[in-house]
Amino acid sequence: MNFGKIERRSFEIENTMKINGGIPLKGTIKTQGAKNAALPVMAVCLLLKGETLTLDNVPDLYDINTMIETLKSLGVEIEVKNSQVVFKVPDELKWEVSENLARKMRASSLVLGPLLANCGKVSLPLPGGCSIGSRPIDLHLKGLKQMGAYIEIQNGVVHASVKGKLRGRRIYLDFPSVGATENLMMAASLAQGETIIENIAREPEIDNLADTLRCIGVPVELEGTGGVRIQGIDKAHSGHDKVIPDRIEACTYILAGVMTNGHIKIEDIVPSHIDAILAKLEESGAKFSVKKNVIEIFPSKKKLHPVSIKTMPYPGFPTDSQPQMAAALSIAKGVSTIEESVFQARFLYAQELNRMGADIKISRDVAIIRGVDKLQGANVKASDLRAGAALIIAGLAAQGETIVDDMVHVWRGYEAIDKKLKSLGAQVELL
Ligand code: EPZ
Repeated sequence: MNFGKIERRSFEIENTMKINGGIPLKGTIKTQGAKNAALPVMAVCLLLKGETLTLDNVPDLYDINTMIETLKSLGVEIEVKNSQVVFKVPDELKWEVSENLARKMRASSLVLGPLLANCGKVSLPLPGGCSIGSRPIDLHLKGLKQMGAYIEIQNGVVHASVKGKLRGRRIYLDFPSVGATENLMMAASLAQGETIIENIAREPEIDNLADTLRCIGVPVELEGTGGVRIQGIDKAHSGHDKVIPDRIEACTYILAGVMTNGHIKIEDIVPSHIDAILAKLEESGAKFSVKKNVIEIFPSKKKLHPVSIKTMPYPGFPTDSQPQMAAALSIAKGVSTIEESVFQARFLYAQELNRMGADIKISRDVAIIRGVDKLQGANVKASDLRAGAALIIAGLAAQGETIVDDMVHVWRGYEAIDKKLKSLGAQVELL
């Protein structure tokens, strides 16, 4: 059954999912627009004055809703037409973000760069940390200061301002931070002169942002050496762009197909965006084929072989797929290891998987995963977005019933995951 587009959610959040596991998934689904591309390209509208930005393939997610509310609170008029979102920007934007909205999502930090560049000032409550570690924005602030911003933090609120325009300059990122790269690219777009940012993040979401900046008239040159060159402009014009497919959502469903020994197709993927995952799946003996923008997962008589993984910035193995991969390796036929090098603490899901019969031990930043024959259904709790996804795919493969609580984390990043899984034959129910 071809899944097609879902109706948009009204965002009453069902907080529990019941899964009857052990059913091989079968069928075809299509990826959503990428959450982590949509959030920065939506913030691009804050670079406009009296112009319009139109974005296609925007996913229907809780975090997207939070960004829409945040942009509306700054004066942007927003029209949602299925997966197309139109942002009509006034001549004068507001520049203070409420605590309530800022604390809901770390990506609210992405309004800093464009607002400061366009309005000359911004007040933003510091984004909260979360269960995967502290989420500082020191690299964002350091780069903005280098561009001439005056920044002080009072009572947990960032107050940034600049006299006149930000100044273009050469910036070296101490770490290829995705968010810092995005914030500084947007800040550079209206700065005086040229900005060169080196050691940038190279995730596909950065290419998407570069395209969206170009569509409003900003000359952006991504350089193969891990740098970007941006010429600041005086005024950006209206533009129309689209959001790339969600590579992390795709990996989640790929691993669900592998874990349930199913036969599924996932349409609208970009194979090069998931090279690292496909390489590890091949190494572990999973059966799949990739044709153009479709990946097909085949049933296999053999269990996965154990593998060793270290998460790295792109193009390395993505930290956002680490929990889901751990779930898949928990029923491989040997001992696998996963080293988490991007975040401080991204293993909270392990104790929940162990409640399902997995055998995962954490030693500092390494998970040692001793494969077991089968997982058993259990009551588990999602601690964060990708941990929740890992528990759901584990529940699909487990024998018996799994109850996943705190689904509110999962709705942040997985559009209609219940409907998509049902279309693949899974027995899932929201309670
Ligand atoms: C983005 O977060 C993604 N979120 C994350 O996805 C993803 O895990 C992460 O990039 C890495 O790929 C969005 O795009 C909305 P970072 P971001 O800045 O920008 C440290 C998901 O599940 N750091 O590359 O916050 C930071 O603490 C989410 O979809 C600083 O120390 O990631 C972390 O250890 C989770 N100072 C590391 O760098 C800074 O100023 C990577 O952070 C910025 C970051």
